[in-house]
Amino acid sequence: MDTLSVWRGTAAPTGYAMVNGDVTADVLVIGGGITGVTLADLLAEQHTANKPKVVLLEAGEIGCGSTGNSTGNLYETLSTGMRELVSRWNTDVARQVANERRGAVAFIEERARLLGDVGFRRCPLVQWADQALADAMRKEFEALAAAGCAVERATSVPSPLPPAQGEVLVLPGQAQFQPQAYVAALARRAAEAGAAIHEHSRVIALDLKARRAVTATGSVTAKEIVIATHTPLGMHLVQTEMPVHREYAIAFEWPADAGPGPGAFWWQGSEHLSVRTMQANGRDYLVCVGQEHKVGIHNAKASLLALEMLAKKYVGERPVAWRWSAQNYRGADGLPYIGRDAEDCFIATGFATDGLTWGTVAARLIAAELLGHKSAFAELVRPNRLSPVKGARRIVEESVTVVKQLVKDYLTHRQNEELASLQPGDSAIVNAEGETFAAYRAPDGELFAVSNVCTHMGCKVHWNSVETSWDCPCHGSRFRPDGTVIEGPAIHALKRRHAPPLGS
Ligand SMILES: Cc1cc2nc3c(=O)[nH]c(=O)nc-3n(C[C@H](O)[C@H](O)[C@H](O)COP(=O)(O)OP(=O)(O)OC[C@H]3O[C@@H](n4cnc5c(N)ncnc54)[C@H](O)[C@@H]3O)c2cc1C
Ligand code: FES
Repeated sequence: MDTLSVWRGTAAPTGYAMVNGDVTADVLVIGGGITGVTLADLLAEQHTANKPKVVLLEAGEIGCGSTGNSTGNLYETLSTGMRELVSRWNTDVARQVANERRGAVAFIEERARLLGDVGFRRCPLVQWADQALADAMRKEFEALAAAGCAVERATSVPSPLPPAQGEVLVLPGQAQFQPQAYVAALARRAAEAGAAIHEHSRVIALDLKARRAVTATGSVTAKEIVIATHTPLGMHLVQTEMPVHREYAIAFEWPADAGPGPGAFWWQGSEHLSVRTMQANGRDYLVCVGQEHKVGIHNAKASLLALEMLAKKYVGERPVAWRWSAQNYRGADGLPYIGRDAEDCFIATGFATDGLTWGTVAARLIAAELLGHKSAFAELVRPNRLSPVKGARRIVEESVTVVKQLVKDYLTHRQNEELASLQPGDSAIVNAEGETFAAYRAPDGELFAVSNVCTHMGCKVHWNSVETSWDCPCHGSRFRPDGTVIEGPAIHALKRRHAPPLGS
């Protein structure tokens, strides 16, 4: 199935050269999503005598990670609810979070003004739920108000959204943009100010002692390394605390006057649905996002179909113009992990589905620290904080998922197929000649056979039928049929296996 986000599909391509040869820098930024690009821009715009030399390495193209596959909403609250943050922490923390995020949205607005047309607009965020969650919505109103958010009440939502059965919460003055257009334009600005940006430059080895990152075509040695890869590369303590989910998105062509107008619309009913409109290249679209599941242990095709069916219940039968999905990593205690880690690198992760704003917060905090001004908020989100009570349940749940996958997968085989029966487009875990393979036969008949053991920490990979990839349920690494890494903490490809001849 072809998957491409409406943002990436309608934005102009970027086109930065691969890194070539051995390069040195003051700051190496790994990852060209909103976090890495914002940081590169902030450092490159310095006019001081000690302006740092910045190199950014991106594995694919700028924005190709979660940034260009998100929904493009910008808000001071959190998608899991301010009430959860207040109950885990307290009102003061919720207030600090709302303040910091509000500042980041204002920063994006200011940058958008400099960048030209990146689809930025101020709009409300509207949330409503089924009657069964009326009490939760009441608590959410109180938590938002306590956090200093100018929340209001309404009784209805515009068509074609699922009708409101109870209270509707409206947060005025939030925003949305075209995330791919924004990050691409910001990268251009950073490059013009002197940052060296390289695409198709995946870091395949990272020597933290030598402060050196190696790609297939070169290397970068830098005093400071910022790992802005959504989840840190390689093994990292925070990965043991972060559940990883994939979420699905579709866009329909949709007349602008058919509603619901500018806004981020979050329905938390029997199902979750996030809806917004957007315009690109003279066409109007309705974007619908939902069906969040743990990576690698769900049926991707069924999730996408369920989202399509749910959306069509409200928008009617019409062709889906764009389909895509993306990954998110949640902090165990409701906050992200931003700052220096034990290896003296900077990391920025655990953004849940709020990372366009959190990524901007992260870039601003890291830039400030690199330029010598650490803020008080940085202390709250530092990666090595210990909050066992607040995060305990989620950590236990997550560890159970990992252990279950390790135990179940080593003791049993999910599928015992014969290679000979693998039809074009089919995938399977196959036993042949005493070996176990993750095998996929491409539509043109080519057979790919790779190890089914994830190179990160040894869990077993599962097939993702929507994106034609092998996905790891433990910490979210994803691999192409030929074993090369797509995303996640794994640095090394799945080992290629010699496929036995057909019929064996
Ligand atoms: C369906 C969905 C909708 C969302 N909608 C919203 C929303 O409306 N609002 C919001 O605030 N948040 C949203 N989010 C969350 C948000 O998209 C992310 O949190 C945010 O984009 C993360 O930005 P990032 O720069 O940290 O990571 P990414 O955008 O993922 O960028 C990381 C980059 O690092 C690169 N990389 C990885 N490994 C390497 C390597 N070895 N070498 C070099 N480069 C590497 C990747 O290719 C990638 O481009 C959504 C998430 C999902 C799943
Ligand atoms: S992603 Fe950690 S074991 Fe696979």
